[in-house]
Amino acid sequence: MSKTKKSNLISLADISANTLKQILSLAKELKKEPLSKSFFLKNKSIALIFAKPSLRTRVSFEAGINHFGGNPITIKMDEISVGIRENVEDIANVLSKYVSAIVIRTFEQKQIEELGRFSHVPVINALSNEEHPCQIISDLFTIKEIFKDLSDLKLAYIGDGNNVVQSLILGCALANMDISIASPKNYLPNKYYIEIAKRINSKIRIELTSNPKQAAKNANVIYTDVWTSMGQEKEFTKRAKIFKPYQINDELLSYADKKAIVLHCLPAHKEQEISSKVFDRFSEIIYQQAENRLHAQKAILMKFIGNR
Ligand code: CP
Ligand code: NVA
Repeated sequence: MSKTKKSNLISLADISANTLKQILSLAKELKKEPLSKSFFLKNKSIALIFAKPSLRTRVSFEAGINHFGGNPITIKMDEISVGIRENVEDIANVLSKYVSAIVIRTFEQKQIEELGRFSHVPVINALSNEEHPCQIISDLFTIKEIFKDLSDLKLAYIGDGNNVVQSLILGCALANMDISIASPKNYLPNKYYIEIAKRINSKIRIELTSNPKQAAKNANVIYTDVWTSMGQEKEFTKRAKIFKPYQINDELLSYADKKAIVLHCLPAHKEQEISSKVFDRFSEIIYQQAENRLHAQKAILMKFIGNR
């Protein structure tokens, strides 16, 4: 990352393996001493724009910005209606006069890209229909805390081929981890992400299957997410039927490595994508995963605003 030019975090394809390493090591430092950089954002504000609901992302960004002595300004999308009340170019130019970064959760990744093009301050993707890079950076941090070394692990993602797994594919390529994805035939992730991942790292194995047992085989990390993402609520009943064989439960876990861990980005729908029994057994790790959003996002802010 250049010292002078501002960079955005819109896709995990925006960063190198080396930048990821630096963010993970910063996150480790910040987790050890959460208030060690309490002046980093002194007298600075960060805009947080949300077009979809959020607990973890919003609160961890707000709390993290407070730890840095900064001021988070959370804006609900309907207050500014990007692209409707005002075009993206004007919003980007105006916000750049007030704040040191723009964090945005919205539907279309294209809208975040456009904001990133016009903004003079870093733009950070807090989830789009296509990707969730902050989540995955944080998850890689959690996996590293538990396994110490990321390379040579196998991650199995079981469920919908959504934003979370599309970022996971890129994250695994950056971290040198194999990834196996089991989704129903019409719900596989977009092949575009597999092509990009292969370009990032041609050595890892990326497997796409509709068989959850095959994906889970010998995996070190089993990961799932909701079957119905925000914005797809009308498809809930249809999806619940289609995805039923993709639940993470004891039977599926018996195919994974004996020391495998289970991750879930949350919110979770127990007895759907994950059985209550499995969730309860891994709840400590899943809550550790949620906690780490705070530390990882603080590291992201330092990297992108401070050009550390
Ligand atoms: N995992 C995650 O992004 O949670 P929120 O939607 O609550 O922010
Ligand atoms: N795939 C989910 C992730 C929530 C954090 C969604 O987009 O709703």
